[in-house]
Amino acid sequence: TSAPASYPECLEIQGGTVLSGHVQISGAKNSALAVLAGALCTNDQVSLRMVPDLHDIRRMFQVLQSVGVRIRREACDIVIDSRHITSVEPCPDVVRKLRASFFVIGALVGRQGEAVVPLPGGCNIGARPIDLHVRGLQALGAQVKVRLVMHGKVHARAANGSKLVGGSFCLDYPSVGATETLMMAAALADGKSTLYNVAQEPEVVDLAEFLNSCGANITGAGTKCLSVEGVPRLHGTSFTIIPDRIEAGTFLMAAAITRSSISMSRVVPRHLVAVVSKLQQIGCKIVQTAPDGLEVTCGSRLQRLDVTTLPYPGFPTDLQPQMSSLMTTCCGQSIVEETVFESRMRHVEELQKLGAKIRVSKNLAFISGKDQGSSLYGAPVLATDLRAGAALVLAGMAGEGVTTIEGVSHIDRGYEKLDVKLAKLGAKLTRKACLPSELTL
Ligand code: EPU
Repeated sequence: TSAPASYPECLEIQGGTVLSGHVQISGAKNSALAVLAGALCTNDQVSLRMVPDLHDIRRMFQVLQSVGVRIRREACDIVIDSRHITSVEPCPDVVRKLRASFFVIGALVGRQGEAVVPLPGGCNIGARPIDLHVRGLQALGAQVKVRLVMHGKVHARAANGSKLVGGSFCLDYPSVGATETLMMAAALADGKSTLYNVAQEPEVVDLAEFLNSCGANITGAGTKCLSVEGVPRLHGTSFTIIPDRIEAGTFLMAAAITRSSISMSRVVPRHLVAVVSKLQQIGCKIVQTAPDGLEVTCGSRLQRLDVTTLPYPGFPTDLQPQMSSLMTTCCGQSIVEETVFESRMRHVEELQKLGAKIRVSKNLAFISGKDQGSSLYGAPVLATDLRAGAALVLAGMAGEGVTTIEGVSHIDRGYEKLDVKLAKLGAKLTRKACLPSELTL
């Protein structure tokens, strides 16, 4: 049932269910967002398959449309027609709602020699600066001015008045977004670029493969060093987005926290090695059933764990909140260290409302297992960001009683039909209109 449009939605979860069955994983949000920005590099049409239907993706469509790109759906494909760019300044109101839309700066300055992009918004998980994007673009031959007045804007233009010239740049930190921005800018530069200490995430590799399928000359994607031989223009292509490793990891943890057995398809198992290793370490059995299939089975007793989030191939920060929920149901005290974002612990306060015993000290969370005081039960909670929302859904399914999650729009930003997919596996969740609290008293 869908809620009346006038009220925000909430999810009501009846805890204590066991999951079973099969789930199909959607295309990767973060890959699709990068590839959509990459489509702006082409003077042609590109046809994309497995683009997930998500709020964040629709916002990215709006960003592209605001500079003249035409987007249409043809059967299972999204067709992006970037032949006629009408502006180098995407709509500020939309860019501010989606951090990934800032990454179009690389495509626009690479292709048009100029871009004016507002400072980005996005999930509420820390400062998320853009200094690496700015310094990288400067190294490739751009003049960049960051104006902080009003809401702030970044103005980048080719220093020679026409094209970026390429160059070398070493990122202080392997930022996913900065690597993607610079790859797009370098793809169309008038010269060669070498980027060091880049992100190695599968989504970065997917963007490189997409750009190469449009005629770019990028080598080294998936390693710490990228070489880009600039080309004058890129042509159209048909491309399929990789499966979402974070969604797959969330379903693996959903099975673990409910002590269930489920199978999944449309995954790339090698993208999940860090996650699978950690789940096996606590006692889950995970087997590969097909080149793109995994099956997970979890008994009742799972062990404690220490986990540190790291850039890929390390354990992903985007699964840290969900893993924290899971650890409250294991034996012993677990320790989570968040090293990627400085404030990605906001889920803890909400998990505490569900009975989790967690102590946070700086970027460390000390999580007591079920034999050490954590005992999950239903309560009203708020999803403060996308992955925090997923963590609450998992905790709600494992707890006793009814959990009501507000802020579902955060979950809808990044999970395609999470509630529908979980319900098919046997979870009891309902999406409802979230009445103002004075009416529900
Ligand atoms: N950073 C800088 N300077 C920069 C850019 C980044 O200091 O110029 C720092 C950030 O502040 C952060 C760290 O580098 O502490 C990592 O940030 P990164 O740039 O790698 O993150 P991002 O590109 O903004 C992408 C994903 C995130 C994911 C991170 C890390 C997209 C659209 N978003 O963000 O996804 O958490 O990489 O893997 O690709 C999510 O899906 O829930 C999500 C937040």
